[in-house]
Amino acid sequence: MKIPKQQLLFPELYRDKVSPKPVNVASVPQRSPFRYPGGKTWFVPVFRDWMVNHYPKPEILVEPFVGGGIISLTALFEDLVSRVVMVEIDENIAAVWQSVVDGHAEWLAKKILDFDLTKEAVIQEISKTDISVKEKAFQTILKNRTFHGGILAEGSGFLKHGENGKGIRSRWYPATLAKRFGNLKLVADRITFRQEDGLGVIREYSQRGDVVFFIDPPYTAGGKKAGKRLYRHFTLDHEHLFTLCESVKGDFLMTYDNTDEVKTMARRHGFQMRLIPMKNTHHTTMEELVIGKDLKWMDRYPAVHEPVAEYNKAVKRERKVPTKRYQ
Ligand SMILES: C[S@@+](CC[C@H](N)C(=O)[O-])C[C@H]1O[C@@H](n2cnc3c(N)ncnc32)[C@H](O)[C@@H]1O
Repeated sequence: MKIPKQQLLFPELYRDKVSPKPVNVASVPQRSPFRYPGGKTWFVPVFRDWMVNHYPKPEILVEPFVGGGIISLTALFEDLVSRVVMVEIDENIAAVWQSVVDGHAEWLAKKILDFDLTKEAVIQEISKTDISVKEKAFQTILKNRTFHGGILAEGSGFLKHGENGKGIRSRWYPATLAKRFGNLKLVADRITFRQEDGLGVIREYSQRGDVVFFIDPPYTAGGKKAGKRLYRHFTLDHEHLFTLCESVKGDFLMTYDNTDEVKTMARRHGFQMRLIPMKNTHHTTMEELVIGKDLKWMDRYPAVHEPVAEYNKAVKRERKVPTKRYQ
């Protein structure tokens, strides 16, 4: 089983402070059929920890910005909840999840196994229009596996050299992908999928005490440009998202980019914050911001800390900025 790079790089993150024994992280199965930009496979061990801290066990996990879905799938396969509500606004990504829920996972698995992947065949397949949802799902998987960085946003193009000079075939693992779809069939009846605005779905479930939310919105770092490169839908009313989180009766865990703007918002809404190390796609070490109601349980990770210094800076800056900007 392949262990995500991030865990190998930050073993100390996964080491329990109390016991010197590393927390078992060898079990992060790649359950998503996507290679997703900004995917949260590296966060799975922390997510598991958060979930098992809830008593009684939450009934439903709502993931309002589900993307490649690794967190929801982990919750289902590991029985951390009974059901998941997965929400994604992008129609191409949505086609994949909708097809799984509609019982077409096996059809997709067979289609993947039967496809003879050449650049010409991909171009022919993805240029088909007026197609069914399951056919659109297949197009999405093809693009996701043959486009640079798995990026489906406008302006993205084919992998040039790929792994070992294998070009567009370098991320095409038909047997593995077919197996993942085969496995998805096993949990499809526990998934509610909705192609809509995640903010509306948070509001809808906000008053239920037996619901938890994992919130991984499109990022703001680098301004609109950075978000635009990764996702077709990248603009979001972040202030509205924070306001909605305040109304959540159950619990939520939110991951964000580590910017002063986000920290200021989190503070204003009375949430706790922790910084957690991760490596980005350019192999640069960065810190990801985790936001929640009560994050003391995270303090057992030695590599995790509160963003104290930066946070104070952000507070100072906020005082200087006219309040109008935040209204
Ligand atoms: C950071 S990614 C989520 C990645 C995901 N956690 C994973 O592990 O693959 C954010 C996702 O939110 C989607 N999105 C953007 N705006 C949305 C909205 N208003 N409602 C629902 N989904 C949205 C984007 O298309 C993108 O797939």
